[in-house]
Amino acid sequence: MCGIVGYYGPKDPKSVILEGLQTLEYRGYDSAGVAILNGSEYKRIRAEGKLAALADKLADETFDGAIGIGHTRWATHGPPSERNAHPHCIEGVNIVHNGIIENYAELREELMSEGATFSSDTDSELVAHLINKSMKSTGNLMEAVMKMMKRLEGAYSILAVSADAPEEMVAFKNGPPLILGVGEKELVVASDIQAIMPHTNKVIFLEDDEVVYIRKDRYELFNRSGGLIKKEVEVIDWSPEQVEKQGFKHYMLKEIFEQPRAVAQAIDPHINLETKSVALTRVGFGGARVEELPKIDVQEDLQLTNETLEGIERIFIVACGTSYYAGQVGEYLIEQIARVPVECDIGSEFRYRYPVIPENSLVITISQSGETADTLAALRLVKQQGAKVLSICNVRRSSIDREADGHLYMNAGAEIGVASTKAFVSTLSLLQIFAIQLAKVKGVLNQDTEKPFVEALVSLPSQMEKVLVHDKFFEEAASSLKTYRGFLYMGRGVSFPIAMEGALKLKELAYMHAEGYAAGEMKHGPLALIDESMAVVMLVANDELYDKTVSNLEEAKARGGQIISIGSGENQKLQNLSLHYLSIPEAHWTVNPVLQVLPLQLLAYHVASSLGHDVDQPRNLAKSVTVE
Ligand code: F6R
Repeated sequence: MCGIVGYYGPKDPKSVILEGLQTLEYRGYDSAGVAILNGSEYKRIRAEGKLAALADKLADETFDGAIGIGHTRWATHGPPSERNAHPHCIEGVNIVHNGIIENYAELREELMSEGATFSSDTDSELVAHLINKSMKSTGNLMEAVMKMMKRLEGAYSILAVSADAPEEMVAFKNGPPLILGVGEKELVVASDIQAIMPHTNKVIFLEDDEVVYIRKDRYELFNRSGGLIKKEVEVIDWSPEQVEKQGFKHYMLKEIFEQPRAVAQAIDPHINLETKSVALTRVGFGGARVEELPKIDVQEDLQLTNETLEGIERIFIVACGTSYYAGQVGEYLIEQIARVPVECDIGSEFRYRYPVIPENSLVITISQSGETADTLAALRLVKQQGAKVLSICNVRRSSIDREADGHLYMNAGAEIGVASTKAFVSTLSLLQIFAIQLAKVKGVLNQDTEKPFVEALVSLPSQMEKVLVHDKFFEEAASSLKTYRGFLYMGRGVSFPIAMEGALKLKELAYMHAEGYAAGEMKHGPLALIDESMAVVMLVANDELYDKTVSNLEEAKARGGQIISIGSGENQKLQNLSLHYLSIPEAHWTVNPVLQVLPLQLLAYHVASSLGHDVDQPRNLAKSVTVE
């Protein structure tokens, strides 16, 4: 999704904005641009393609002003091109916009009937027209933006500057995230904290309908009706190394290898190592492993009490993409561990299917970014119906985190690669913690019977390390794997959502057709797909469905399928049946999905990388999907 950066301050705005946009690259984009004050005018430079193209154009440009705005555009209205790139400028008014203006057609028509002309296909350019129109009558940028806002429908966050009000900037949030960084005599406005962190760790998270009015190094906050508001400046404690590649070829590979640590960070606040029990509050915990980890503030975790949990009769999980597959694993875990019925839904379906939410339901939203539009809309919908919402989220103070009633934090650190990896495994571990706690308050587990579950979780990070040493396995296999016509990923039980997650990873990174299927469904259709050109990735868990899964594998093999199996131990049978067999450590059924997904991430990563794809920023995709 589009990225926004605005800067006022003593540093060179060109470098600050360009570097800020670089930190937002992970969001996905296809063109970029800046408008920076130079003398009494804003000089606007834009380029199609990656930021390097913009940087080339800017190399010899100098600016003497202290203020500027920049943008990375992820095309919605109109193809990626320089003319559609932001900022859009009308008579000295420059704007950047993230979101979608739903009534743009009618506003554009209205403006055209008044003689306005448009030089782009975007829904954003009209914002510059509307502000310019008001500027002509009032000469006041703030007033002009406030007036313009009233005309727009949809989701939009906007930054505006004008040559007629130099050294002023107005930022407005309605939907996509906007954060104000408050430094020493400098102010940064950006879509994401990463663009602000190099300058200050003091930030204000804007809520919807809030406006920031910047005049030189001073700022004021207003609500949509123009009333002055006060908000606290928060201090962020992310370390800068969390957002660097640290020698890995891609962020995604770095994040794959960070997963054991991500799981440890997710579970540590909730596990008492001495008693081998979980508690969804801050608990005292010791042990060397924990102390090696960066200090994480877990003060305000779950605010749902045991009493509330006890009364829960039904759970809905709502999420999108990889987070949705994590939710599906959660469905198996919670139902089997706590015996409470669970329904897991895709955000975009849930919000429009008029869901029935019975009394005593808990809704769990899962979102790495905390900004996914469909998940956020689902949260708002169920809250209107009176349900309590527990958010499992990585980005603290994101919209979903702020609006939920209870919070479980992934504590995975910044996830920059567009394809989610460490957030997925952190979520799976938190869902287990939640399921165990729920089972205890419901009397399904007690302090003795919870122990095997807790022990499995505690040893999970070191078991994950053992899987990650097989990195070379898929690196070597990638050149033959990339020649297949398609991939069918299959598993049974709790391995089924992992099969779907594996297929999603391959689709989005390698741009190859891949499907995740319940292995037991094979005879109901997908078997027809299988021949010598089809790779079949079979997840063979050592559980009660083992024999049935092996039979499915044999059926696929008999039709010529090229078998890649993930099992455990020196399984000679699987080795004989498979072209590639990878053994993961024997593990408790609840943590096995975490171990299974690691090879699938590596498979997708190496196939995509050997095809020369941009693994961190797959084509057409964005990290934070802030529009539906
Ligand atoms: C796939 C992927 C996406 C996200 C989805 C939801 O690798 O990353 O499918 O999982 O867009 O994002 P969040 O978790 O931020 O709500």
